[in-house]
Amino acid sequence: MSQTNEKAVLTIDGKQIELPVLTGTEGHKAIDISKLFDEHGITTFDPSLGSTAACRSTITYIDGDKGVLRYRGIPIEHFDRPKPNFIEVAWLLIFGSLPTFAELRNFRNMLTDNELIHEGLRRQFGDLPPKSPPMAILSAMLSQLACYHEKFLPLGDEELFGEAAARLISKVRTIAAYSYRRSKGLPFVYPDPALRYCANFLHLMFSIPYQQYIVSEEIEDAMNLVLILHADHEQNCSTSTVRVVGSAKANLFASCAAGVSALWGPLHGGANVEVIKMLESIQSGGLKPEDCIKAAKDKDNPFKLFGFGHRVYKNYDPRAKILRAVADRVFARLKTNDPLLDIARKLEELALKDSYFIDRKLYPNVDFYSGILLRAMGIPTNMFTVIFAMGRLPGWIAQWKEQHDNPNQKIIRPRQLYLGNKRTDYVPIEER
Ligand code: ACO
Repeated sequence: MSQTNEKAVLTIDGKQIELPVLTGTEGHKAIDISKLFDEHGITTFDPSLGSTAACRSTITYIDGDKGVLRYRGIPIEHFDRPKPNFIEVAWLLIFGSLPTFAELRNFRNMLTDNELIHEGLRRQFGDLPPKSPPMAILSAMLSQLACYHEKFLPLGDEELFGEAAARLISKVRTIAAYSYRRSKGLPFVYPDPALRYCANFLHLMFSIPYQQYIVSEEIEDAMNLVLILHADHEQNCSTSTVRVVGSAKANLFASCAAGVSALWGPLHGGANVEVIKMLESIQSGGLKPEDCIKAAKDKDNPFKLFGFGHRVYKNYDPRAKILRAVADRVFARLKTNDPLLDIARKLEELALKDSYFIDRKLYPNVDFYSGILLRAMGIPTNMFTVIFAMGRLPGWIAQWKEQHDNPNQKIIRPRQLYLGNKRTDYVPIEER
């Protein structure tokens, strides 16, 4: 990041304040207001932070107008070939460059060594109500890793950080699969160290005693790709949550558990579940695609076209584009079909020629096709957001690391525009 010769001039109370203008390697300019309050007692107002660059970052670049997404400079389209590899991408995001053979092998070994969860933690699944939402379980269990791995709670040791990151990435898949098995009342199977990351996850989900789930290459590749496409997305809601929590010097487990909670919301990661509900209700005849579009445009109706629109993308989300193509590929190879895919395509076609969506630049986002692809892999709807969280974990870890590597990082503590009462006297209860 560099300071340009340009200055932004703010005129307030008859006074002119010159503000430095910053540029990154690519992307928008930023007016540096970081000293505005200390030097002039003025705040800025940007409640959803839509015009605020809250940090410096070198991890992910998005050009929302052009529909571009790159991890450490590499366009996400490159990770589809020759073979998608989530663990390689996780390393890239966290440590900043593509791993060598040796680095990848060591990282894989660390993941395998840490794939079991403590039996005490595993037993806790049995005490949870069977209908517990898997995202609630995931957030609670990630937070509880702190109880079983106290060694990793102090900050500042690079080696311990790497071990903690590997533990999280490895154990999240075991915890995720166990939350599904709990909901089904199935016995827990243990991870298989001979399997790669995604195949092992699918084994943990679907193997039953004496009946090993055999994962096909197409499904394993598709799962790798789903995780890769969710792996980071710069300062989105859950990542910003991880950074806010991390800024208080909270440990990695606690910070990532907070990210899971943010991701759960239907306006964020939970949207993929809402998309499937919407498509199913069209399929069951409860709603026509045209009614759906009409309801989404009606300002008196809180209904949204889920899987459409994005704070940053004002163009087709590049992840949705890839997922749409992969869904076609997987269905063709498996020689199956999902009627929801046809409904999704019809909705997309209607929306993309409707002036409401055109004027507001609302295009399909990552959640529009991800659920259909996950269904093809046999993943139940209540696990969609959990899988999003598994994919996003390396991104959260990378952003947490970047934040902690910055010696000038301060606690994140915004200000407010106060609209409440002016000074008021307390009135004792008997006098009210
Ligand atoms: N359906 C109908 N109208 C929409 C939609 C939608 N999906 N998305 C945005 N709009 C409308 C808004 O009502 C608003 O209209 P107005 O200008 O007439 O008031 C306009 O488009 C701008 O939308 P905002 O809500 O201001 O955009 P914002 O950047 O705040 O929100 C968000 C982005 C939350 C993603 C929004 O588009 C949305 O709710 N989409 C549906 C939920 C969804 O798919 N979320 C997943 C996002 S991707 C992710 O988090 C992984």
